[in-house]
This record gives sequence, structure tokens and C-alpha cells, in this order.
Amino acid sequence: MDVRIDIARTEDFPAILAVQKKAFLPYSAKGIETSIWTEETLDELTRDAREKTILVAKVPDGRVAGAVRFAPVEGVVFVRKICVDPEYKRLGVGRALLLSVEKYAPSDAHKISLCTLLLTHENIPFFLRLGYRPETVFPDHYHHIDLLCFGKYPFRSPRSTNLP
Ligand SMILES: CC(C)(COP(=O)(O)OP(=O)(O)OC[C@H]1O[C@@H](n2cnc3c(N)ncnc32)[C@H](O)[C@@H]1OP(=O)(O)O)[C@@H](O)C(=O)NCCC(=O)NCCS
Repeated sequence: MDVRIDIARTEDFPAILAVQKKAFLPYSAKGIETSIWTEETLDELTRDAREKTILVAKVPDGRVAGAVRFAPVEGVVFVRKICVDPEYKRLGVGRALLLSVEKYAPSDAHKISLCTLLLTHENIPFFLRLGYRPETVFPDHYHHIDLLCFGKYPFRSPRSTNLP
């Protein structure tokens, strides 16, 4: 599907929150606490945007189809809150967003790290298809959630190795 990825501007934030809410709300039916995604306020997102880059996916009519946030720490790019509007699921929007993280990541990054809810297995094939590999489980992590975490090393080159 034709989708454009850009760095989000403040005027995109309300639509991003709406998409995020739509994307994560179905998990509440499975007994998963979803308020960190479904009840995030504009103020909270605006504060988060000071620390992270937020990418937004738009379809040709300008509607927001998805978003993702990331922040580099010492060469590791931490990805958070990827979401695609359920209306646009399985059309390549999530792929375009995650590949764009690699494009926008700082040139000295060596790894991308992301986590998904341990309680739901449905995102695992998505991350595997994008070249991520499972690395660890973090019990009782952000907001007391158990997480399955993945890593990808798309920038690996001789400069990034500490091997003897
Ligand atoms: C996870 C999510 C971002 C995926 O976005 P998407 O736009 O539907 O994914 P894409 O269409 O880009 O899929 C990319 C590839 O993953 C595969 N894939 C995506 N979701 C899949 C699923 N549930 N099961 C199996 N394969 C899946 C696609 O078939 C595609 O495979 P391909 O390489 O053969 O083309 C989206 O489903 C979503 O927003 N979910 C709700 C929020 C959420 O759980 N976010 C993740 C929190 S960590």
C-alpha cells in the first residue's frame, strides 16, 4: 500500500493518539492492562516527543495509518509503541514504519531493541519477518508488564565489533 513515513509534527499528535488507542484497545478484551497506550494524553505524548523521535505513517489522503517512537541510548535504538490502525493492518504499514526507524536511526547506532507483550503471541511473526530475533524475557518490566524482547543488528560492520 502507498504509505509515506515522516517525522511527526505536533499537529499529527491527536491522530497518532487516536490510532494508538484503536490499535491497542482489542488487547483489553484479553484482560491485558492497556491504559498506557489507550489513555495516553496529548501532554504525555508531547513530553515523550522531547526525548524520542516519533515517525508517522500517512496514506495518500493524509490520514494517519500508524506511528512508532524510538530513542537511541549508547548505540542501541529503543523502539516503543509501534501501532497501525486496524483498518490498515497487514498492508505493509508496520513494515514501512520499522524499516524507517533504521533509516532515521543515528549513524553510530549498532542495534535496534524492542519488546512486545509476553501475554500475546500475535506480534511475534511480525517482528521475525522484519529480521528481529528474540533475545530475552523481562518479567515485571515497564508498568509491571512481562515483555518478550527482540534485537536486530542492521548496521553491524567491522567498526561495531569488540571481538578480539
Ligand atoms: C503489530 C503491527 C504494528 C503490525 O503492523 P502491520 O502493518 O499489520 O504489519 P505489516 O503489514 O507491515 O506486516 C509485515 C509482515 O509481518 C507479517 N505479519 C504482520 N502481522 C502478523 C500477524 N499477526 N501474524 C503473522 N504475520 C504477521 C505480515 O504478513 C508481513 O509479512 P510479509 O513479510 O510476508 O509481507 C500491528 O498489527 C499493530 O498495530 N498491532 C497492534 C499494536 C501492537 O500490538 N503493537 C506492537 C506492540 S509491541
